[in-house]
Amino acid sequence: MQSRSPAWVTGVAAWVAVTGAVITASQGLPGRKLEARTSQELNPGSPRGTWASSLPGFTQKYPPVKFLSEKDRKRILITGGAGFVGSHLTDKLMMDGHEVTVVDNFFTGRKRNVEHWIGHENFELINHDVVEPLYIEVDQIYHLASPASPPNYMYNPIKTLKTNTIGTLNMLGLAKRVGARLLLASTSEVYGDPEVHPQSEEYWGHVNPIGPRACYDEGKRVAETMCYAYMKQEGVEVRVARIFNTFGPRMHMNDGRVVSNFILQALQGEPLTVYGSGSQTRAFQYVSDLVNGLVALMNSNVSSPVNLGNPEEHTILEFAQLIKNLVGSGSEIQFLSEAQDDPQKRKPDIKRAKLMLGWEPVVRVGATPLVVKGSSPPPPPAPQGVALAPRLHSGASRQT
Ligand SMILES: NC(=O)c1ccc[n+]([C@@H]2O[C@H](COP(=O)([O-])OP(=O)(O)OC[C@H]3O[C@@H](n4cnc5c(N)ncnc54)[C@H](O)[C@@H]3O)[C@@H](O)[C@H]2O)c1
Repeated sequence: MQSRSPAWVTGVAAWVAVTGAVITASQGLPGRKLEARTSQELNPGSPRGTWASSLPGFTQKYPPVKFLSEKDRKRILITGGAGFVGSHLTDKLMMDGHEVTVVDNFFTGRKRNVEHWIGHENFELINHDVVEPLYIEVDQIYHLASPASPPNYMYNPIKTLKTNTIGTLNMLGLAKRVGARLLLASTSEVYGDPEVHPQSEEYWGHVNPIGPRACYDEGKRVAETMCYAYMKQEGVEVRVARIFNTFGPRMHMNDGRVVSNFILQALQGEPLTVYGSGSQTRAFQYVSDLVNGLVALMNSNVSSPVNLGNPEEHTILEFAQLIKNLVGSGSEIQFLSEAQDDPQKRKPDIKRAKLMLGWEPVVRVGATPLVVKGSSPPPPPAPQGVALAPRLHSGASRQT
């Protein structure tokens, strides 16, 4: 079956494999390994890659880290850095040789997503809620803190609003105080249920301001407004990434996003739940592409919003069928009533990212076999046992 599968599933396939492994791991395999070996054995010649644990006789091996001179090394804050996207961004920036501080309140993020860096001299993890002010000296701020999936952001809509409004104000205030550049992780949800297809950055959106998704959609819209107010009034350098649906390792298994839902349901032999007819479309990008886009945007001089997503569009039903086949599951596809304000179409126009950042997804959707353009492969998988948060109960679903 796999040989005949469209290759857009290949990214999913890799992830299914990881997911299966982590289900096994959660049922009894040990997590992170600490090995009784010397620093020299682990990383011979590496100037910054090893760390002697406080446990006598144990050393921790870190993923390889580039050496950057003082001049090139940046102090980077990632809010929400223990979450799905934030932890991959942490990996990239750490491996690139920067000093990374992750701030997270662990609402949806998990320490285990970044535990492979704990103790590294370039890494710091702070348990902090961005709704409270933060005083820290940094050069760049990637502001990702916010629940991202409907069940999570609808769980406490007031908190979602506070995180996206007060939290963003706090981070912009910090950026202003220390002269840092701030990148906001905004979302394609600012386009709501779009009347324009595909969605370009010029489109102002079609959002129900009092619907169940408004706490997130409007929260992100006002967060963007805040960024540009700080830019115009206070001269803060801002970057705004409008992120489209993303998937990959460490995505929460129970947060109701469609790819994780389908994989989990297929693995557990449960019906794959499709809301409405399944003809609504989505376009999914692999997390390594997103991370490369975020870093390119941060380091560019593009201050206007930029869509980051994969324009390959598929119906939800197509996704359900392909994941079912890929997993080799006998699950039925079950049609449930349409979810309120569920966008019918979603596809990024990425002309701006291509033109201004030279960025486009390299993990391709729709070609056979998987085509990786350029020389940049997806980042290496996380150390075994930290690939996904092992929360494996399927949650309330939306086709987000
Ligand atoms: N993953 C996607 O498909 C997608 C799409 C569009 C936008 N985004 C945006 O990207 C960012 C990251 O999304 P993700 O998929 O990694 O979600 P995630 O839930 O895995 O990560 C969000 C992180 O923010 C933390 N957080 C939440 N509220 C906080 C608070 N008040 N203070 C400190 N930390 C807090 C969570 O604990 C978590 O670690 C979010 O801002 C999201 O809106 C993601």
